[in-house]
Amino acid sequence: MAKERIGILGSAFDPIHDGHLQMALRALDSAQLNRLLVIPAADDAYKPCIAGQEDRWKMVVAACSQDPRLVPSRLEIDRNGTAYTVDTLLALRKEYPKADLLYLLGVDGVMKLKNWHRLKKVLSLCSFLVCSREGDVSPIDFHEELVRLQDLGGQFVMLRMEPVDCSSSEIRSCLAAGREPSGISVPIREFCELKGLYGAPVRLSRASGWLDQLFFELKPRRFSHSLAVAAYARRLAGLHGISQKQAEEAGILHDCAKCLPLKEMQRIALNHRLTEDPAFLESGALLHSIVGAQVARDRYGMEDPEVLEAIAYHNTGHSGMSRLAMCVCLADSIEPTRENYPGLEEIRNLAETSLERALLKSLERTASFVRQQGKYLHPQTQGTIAWLRTLPECRS
Ligand SMILES: [Fe+2]
Ligand SMILES: [Fe+2]
Repeated sequence: MAKERIGILGSAFDPIHDGHLQMALRALDSAQLNRLLVIPAADDAYKPCIAGQEDRWKMVVAACSQDPRLVPSRLEIDRNGTAYTVDTLLALRKEYPKADLLYLLGVDGVMKLKNWHRLKKVLSLCSFLVCSREGDVSPIDFHEELVRLQDLGGQFVMLRMEPVDCSSSEIRSCLAAGREPSGISVPIREFCELKGLYGAPVRLSRASGWLDQLFFELKPRRFSHSLAVAAYARRLAGLHGISQKQAEEAGILHDCAKCLPLKEMQRIALNHRLTEDPAFLESGALLHSIVGAQVARDRYGMEDPEVLEAIAYHNTGHSGMSRLAMCVCLADSIEPTRENYPGLEEIRNLAETSLERALLKSLERTASFVRQQGKYLHPQTQGTIAWLRTLPECRS
């Protein structure tokens, strides 16, 4: 059996950005890695960070949810004392005695290797994948350093990378100034803004606590999706003259019940007499929306009936639903981290000008997809479609 090849990407991730992820994905594909451990540095004097380690951890987990080969690791965060890389490598060598360990570094990282604690030991524990971009450092200086490290036993493989226009410090400055940063994904940006990280002005005072709770209640992909829905619902609300605060709140919380076991959803639905419809009661996909409204009220303290309605209708819609609920329902199906599906761009374009027409298109697509799969389409979705077709915006 071929040896397992495990990549390692260690950094402050303060915050994690497209440059990190591009490096990780390029290494996975080009160096035939089986997986890549993404290891945020602990808060300590050796590697000073601006955001706290638990917030940086949540961002790393959310960002890694895009690819199952990216595996976040708390190896350094959970270690007591100074987190030297050599100790991380020793722990990994113990955990994976037969695997090849490949540590990812930029060219600038190679130039700083000479300062690493117990360098010779480090060089004996792993090889290095060096991600180089045009204009990194002087080729002569780099070559000289590489030869010196190879003489000490270091093994290096070069990976050519496309240039990326992002850096953690530039992203932090943009967030502090309320400007749009480039090179950061929508969910990570939303997380920073909702938490008020790096000096970003706080928009929703309760959101930071909600995110901490949701992080533990939801699977990583769902957590990241919730952040993206919040950002997109807020944007759509701004375009269509709807309360951005309510849209963002509903977006954050819309899937708060999604990862509950079906039995727990059923218990909540029956206790609160939310529905007697057997189709709802037997399907987590349907039930999580109305149960979500109840959970948002009971466990997250959301009392705004309009926000609760938007959460309850985010899946099937409802005839007579508010435009706020339309924003959330649409954002749920067209947020930027959604996998592409036929008609997605058309619905996104329609959503810029008409919520009603975009939602109609989106629900019609869902209905035809469900029928093609031979699955059950709930009459509430059909009822929403029929109602939307009667609206003047959709008839014109
Ligand atoms: Fe949902
Ligand atoms: Fe959702």
